[in-house]
This record gives sequence, C-alpha cells and structure tokens, in this order.
Amino acid sequence: MPEHAPEPPASALFDAQRSAEIVAGSFAATPDPRLRRLLTSLVEHLHAFAKDVELTPQEWQRAVEFLTETGQTCTGTRQEFILLSDVLGLSMLVDTLAHDSGEQVTESTVEGPFHVVDSPPRERGDHIDLVGGGEPCLVTGQVVDPEGRPVADAAVDVWQADDEGFYDVQRPGELPEGHLRGLFRTDAEGRFWFRSIVPRHYPIPDDGPVGRLLDATGRHPYRPAHVHFEISAPGMRTLTTHVFVAGTPYLDSDAVFGVKPGLVHEFSTVDDPERAARVGLANPFRHVDFPVTLDRLGPGDQR
Ligand code: BEZ
Ligand code: FE
Repeated sequence: MPEHAPEPPASALFDAQRSAEIVAGSFAATPDPRLRRLLTSLVEHLHAFAKDVELTPQEWQRAVEFLTETGQTCTGTRQEFILLSDVLGLSMLVDTLAHDSGEQVTESTVEGPFHVVDSPPRERGDHIDLVGGGEPCLVTGQVVDPEGRPVADAAVDVWQADDEGFYDVQRPGELPEGHLRGLFRTDAEGRFWFRSIVPRHYPIPDDGPVGRLLDATGRHPYRPAHVHFEISAPGMRTLTTHVFVAGTPYLDSDAVFGVKPGLVHEFSTVDDPERAARVGLANPFRHVDFPVTLDRLGPGDQR
C-alpha cells in the first residue's frame, strides 16, 4: 500500500464559500502589517467580485490576456498600466485620498504620461511656444502657503499640448523638445508669469489595449484642454495639477476623470494693444490667472 501524504489541516482546504477567508489566512504571518492588510483586503475584494459576477474561466482567461497585452504595450516612454488605472478612475481616487488634508489648498490631479522630458529652465515672462501659431496666452499666478504668505523661489514646472492637441514628445522631429514646457521660479512675492498659447483638447494614447477597452465600452478617449503644473518648494508638499480652460469640450466627461471644478479657470480675452505690447503678445490675447495654495509637508509625506 502506498503511503498517503499527510492531509493538510482542514482550515486550509479550499472551500468556495470560505475562499477569501482561507486565502487571506495564508497571509496572516506576513511580518509587515501594512502589506498584510493590503493583501487581505485585495483577496477579499477579488473573491467577492468573482462571486458577484459569477466569473467564468473564459472571461478570466480574456482578462489575463488583456493584462498581458497591457504589460507588453509598456515601453520606456509608454506606461499602459497607468493609463488603465487612469481610465478606471483609480489614479484620481488614489491621488485625491492622498491629498485630502482638510486644508484649503489647491487641488491636485493626475500627472499623465507626457512629463517625460525635463522642462527647460526659463525666466519669468519667457515664451514657451518655440514654434509660433495658436492663440497667444498670458499665464500668471501666485504661490502662497496655507496662511496666505507668498512662497518665494518655488519651482513651477509647466507642460501643455499645442493648439492641435499634441505634446512635443508626440511629434519628435517635427516639434522641438522643450516646446510648450518650462521650469520657472517664483519671485519674492511668490509670483510667476509666462507667455504661451491656448492648448486644445486631445485624445489619450488610444492605439493600445486601453484604447480598445474605451472603444468596446462606447467611451471616448478625450481630455479637456489644460495646462499641467508641478509646483514644489522646500517644506511644502509638491502639487501636481492642471488648469483647465473654461468652456473646453469634455470638461464633464474627461477620459481620466481629472477635472475638479476648482481647477477650471477662465482664459479671458484681453483686447488692449498697449497691454499686449507690454507683455509681448499680439493683440488680442487670452489671460488666465492661477492662484496656488500649497499644503505643508506632513509627517506621512515622503521627502
Ligand atoms: C495628460 O493630461 O497628459 C494625460 C493624463 C492621463 C492620461 C493620459 C494623458
Ligand atoms: Fe495633458
């Protein structure tokens, strides 16, 4: 008679009804309490999901193929998993949970995939449009702390799409690198200003699995027109955000759920030849003012 292997303890035997409890139990000895909590909750939610939708083996296989393709689409400059997280609203949820400090500070939003090259350092007032064309626009703002005191010498990193909805890195060879990007420093009053053009709305990269997901679900890939900002200063939380152009299409259906009402600003038309000459723009031009309140670094923040 062949010897039988010893039976595992009954509590670890698979049982569909207690599946989450059993699998979560296998992580009970995880030394890092946070990792234990994350894995336990993930297993509970995954198993609840599979039971809720009565997930079939064919559907699970298709999901694995989709995730495999998502990974295979990633390159040094393309991150399809982040894009997936973006269109599922998870990026915005994680970001908003992390930045809800209760302070009256400027809201954050997604960083997006186009902050892939260093913005060239520029002087306040510089033009970041290296090509010419589009509707001229003056961007001004002041960076303050939660008490309203100016933050001098804050780094204000900006990047945006052009009037056709393209970032420089999407048209290499055609658009010079650094076009519509700039790294500015605030003055003693926390102020910054620069010249640019009004950006256009554009589609997120939709030629991969995420694009096919949007297509299969009848969703469009567009983002409303916006200018990206990353603002940092010693002792303050780095703020990654956008200014959205009031009235742009897709404000109420951003493909990545990045719009917060406080980030939508009027790009007003200024028809004043003297002022246009003073700021170095053709008349008429558009003007947006973006007042920024940074939060202070908290104990949980990574420096
Ligand atoms: C962007 O605004 O650049 C962006 C954000 C999320 C996904 C794709 C693009
Ligand atoms: Fe963008």
